[in-house]
Amino acid sequence: MSIVILISGRGSNMQAIVEAGLPVTAVISNKPDAPGLAIASARGIPTSVVRDKDYGTREGFDAALAAEVARHAPTAVALAGFMRILTPRFVARYADRLVNIHPSLLPSFTGLKTHERALAAGVKVHGCTVHFVTPELDHGPIVAQAAVPVWTDDTPERLAARVLRQEHLLYPMALRWLLEGRLIVENGIVRVKDPNAHQAFFSDRP
Ligand code: GRF
Repeated sequence: MSIVILISGRGSNMQAIVEAGLPVTAVISNKPDAPGLAIASARGIPTSVVRDKDYGTREGFDAALAAEVARHAPTAVALAGFMRILTPRFVARYADRLVNIHPSLLPSFTGLKTHERALAAGVKVHGCTVHFVTPELDHGPIVAQAAVPVWTDDTPERLAARVLRQEHLLYPMALRWLLEGRLIVENGIVRVKDPNAHQAFFSDRP
C-alpha cells in the first residue's frame, strides 16, 4: 500500500498525511520551488519535480507526470494543493484511486479564492471536501466533508486557517479508507465499508 502525493506549494496537507503515519512513497511537484518538497525531503521521502514549463502541451506534461507517478506503482494518488488541471487521460488512468482536497463544501465554491467567495456570499457554514477526481474540476464523488462556522468578524485568512485545520484531519482519514479498500462508489455516491465511519465532521472551534 502506498500513496504518491502531488503538490505545487506549501505542502501542509502533505505533511499532515505523512505525520498521520500513512505510507507516502513519493512527493512530486510541478514547481521546483514548492516549499513542500523540502518538508518531504527532511522526512526522508523521495521527491521529484516534473516542471509544467518544460512541456509545450497539457498532454505532454501529463504524460511525463503519469510516467513519474507510475514508477512508484501507488495504491493511491493524492492531490494536495496541486495547482494543475489534469487531462482526462491522466484522470482515467488513476480514476478509482485519485483524490483531491478542496477548501469548500462542494458543490459550492469550486475553483480558486474559496474563502473570499464564501464570505462574500454570506454563508454561515464553510469547510472542505475530499473527493475523487474526475475530468471536471472539483466535481468528483464526495468522500468526506468537514464543516466550520463562519463568524461575523471573519477575514479570508482566519476562515482559511480554521478550514485548514480540518483539512489536516479529514484528508488522512479519507486516504486511510481508500488504502484499505473501504470506499464504494455507486451512481456517484461514496459510501464507506465501516459501520463506525463518519463522512461528515463539524467543528465549532474558533
Ligand atoms: C489547501 O487549502 C487545499 O485544500 C487546496 O490548496 C491548499 C493547499 O495547501 N487544494 P497545502 O499546500 O496543503 O498547505
